Amino acid sequence: MNKRQARYFAIGSTLVATLIFLGLTVDSHRQFPKLTNAQNITPAVTLGKNVWHKNNCINCHTIFGEGAYYAPDLTKIAQQRGAPYLRAFLKDPSKFYDEQRHRRLMPQQDLSDADIDGLIAFLDWVSRVDNQGWPPRPITVTGVGTAAGVAILPQAALAGPSTSVAGSRATDSGKDPVALGERVFRSAAPACTACHSIVAGVDMAGPSLAGIATRTQQTLASPAYKGKATDLEAFIRESVTHPSAHLVTGAMYSADGVSFMPNTYEKDLSAEQLGHLAAYLATFK
Ligand code: HEC
Ligand code: HEC
Repeated sequence: MNKRQARYFAIGSTLVATLIFLGLTVDSHRQFPKLTNAQNITPAVTLGKNVWHKNNCINCHTIFGEGAYYAPDLTKIAQQRGAPYLRAFLKDPSKFYDEQRHRRLMPQQDLSDADIDGLIAFLDWVSRVDNQGWPPRPITVTGVGTAAGVAILPQAALAGPSTSVAGSRATDSGKDPVALGERVFRSAAPACTACHSIVAGVDMAGPSLAGIATRTQQTLASPAYKGKATDLEAFIRESVTHPSAHLVTGAMYSADGVSFMPNTYEKDLSAEQLGHLAAYLATFK
């Protein structure tokens, strides 16, 4: 190649690269309204976004991988925790964590009820944006964790098919109800693993389910139990489909008689899936 050809080659390839870049940019912008569900940006979502900026939540948290890595990523938090939990948490985060055990706390944000409703609407909208798998791995934050030092993992971290859960008795056989139950436990939406560990003493947004089979016998025998179940299987079905029928006490797991556990499983899980869950949880003696 002589000098002149080299120059044409450089100019030509720069032009081609520029055209590809512009084309992809235009294409991305064309897709934004659909990927972001632009039609769902209600006034509450906009208000929540303004509260988010005014309070500099991004100085500690990330959404879509953007922000500071001091506190948990909140991209999917609305789906992992649900509105009753978020409302109570944003009112007073200190009720949920203590500085001794968790090493760092979220400062009280002094939010009005309207601000909180807006933030929940905003975080809900964020959680439904099609982010095409970005960030690829869940962002975990060191130092924020549970009593046993296990990070509060977003569901994806625990839900992969190859992840082996400590204490699991699952096999690869496609018909074993325990194995199927473990799969539901990790893949329901939201995943049970977003809030429950199966390790004793590791309480996340919900209590650890280690020993749930034995604990249920005590629950059912106790006069404080107000639900309708008489055996373990019925208790687990009831816990999943009607979380507020019986409330676990001793930590911030409910407010005003409403459990922070989502009440959407009754419509989202089949009777068969509930049976598999019961079979799986019955193995935690
Ligand atoms: C100074 C840092 C800081 C700021 C500012 C902050 N947070 Fe947090 N936030 C934290 C920390 C740290 C946690 C982890 C829980 C803990 O230990 O308190 C947390 C936890 C949360 C959680 C619960 C996460 C879970 O897994 O259950 C939500 C929701 C949340 N923050 C929302 C917000 C919103 C909304 C704002 C802005 C209005 C905000 N935060 C501002 C530090 C902060
Ligand atoms: C958003 C967090 C969250 C998710 C997701 C969640 N739970 Fe819960 N769960 C809780 C909380 C909080 C409690 C305690 C309050 C109550 O009694 O409802 C609880 C209680 C329970 C209990 C009763 C525990 C006991 O000691 O009596 C069972 C069983 C249970 N959950 C199973 C499940 C299963 C199975 C799934 C998935 C299908 C699931 N949970 C998903 C938060 C959650």
